[in-house]
Amino acid sequence: MIIPDITIAVDGYSATGKSTFAKLVAKEFAFLYLDSGAMYRAVTLFAQENGMIDADANIDLDALKAALDKGLDIHFEHTEDGCKTFIGERCVEKDIRTMGVSSQVSPVSAVAFVRNFVDDKLHQFSAAGRVIMDGRDIGTTVFPNAEVKIFMTARPEVRAQRRFDELVMKGENPDMEEVMKNLQERDYIDSHREVSPLSRAADAYVMDNSDMTLHEETVWMLGLLQGKFGILE
Ligand code: CDP
Repeated sequence: MIIPDITIAVDGYSATGKSTFAKLVAKEFAFLYLDSGAMYRAVTLFAQENGMIDADANIDLDALKAALDKGLDIHFEHTEDGCKTFIGERCVEKDIRTMGVSSQVSPVSAVAFVRNFVDDKLHQFSAAGRVIMDGRDIGTTVFPNAEVKIFMTARPEVRAQRRFDELVMKGENPDMEEVMKNLQERDYIDSHREVSPLSRAADAYVMDNSDMTLHEETVWMLGLLQGKFGILE
């Protein structure tokens, strides 16, 4: 099936499987996949490693702003298995997925100048079109004109289990209670912040994938695209 050159926005709560779904769709329909959460995670890692954020997530806003204004080089390099996140020449893909970063990313991403920095990068990276992007505010703020918007959700215990398994696979030793608490805290901060809070765009299709397999997600997407673009095969 031929899908036109559109923009697909995928938003939703933490650990709903947005990136897995977006990567799958990107591969199936030949789209460029961009992970906006990875950008926020990389800014957070950078702030942590440079002493710009303390244990209580108090951020040295002046220092962080100066670093971003100077042109912090966060970018993606696309490999066979998706995109990898870099700060300068260093691949930070693994370092940005730790609980340490997860625990401070939401306060960092609530800062307006951080959001502007990331939004500018996302627009640059997607200039050629035909992209699928996942995050919290893609369909509402970053690409309000995206032709297809999806809002993903799943039951909290399903999401916590998925994130737990993912961390175990990566060699971390997570604590289930801590994982659940982190998801709830991030959902709260992400939904209640002043700038671009997480919310469902009025024209987004909702997918609750609590009980769906990846194959069912692909079939769901195919049905949606066929219906939307009137393509039969
Ligand atoms: O993987 P997970 O769904 O847990 O999170 P993520 O997509 O990697 O995003 C990490 C954090 O970045 C979120 O909890 C948000 O605080 C922030 N974020 C955001 O504010 N806006 C986006 N478009 C994407 C992520």
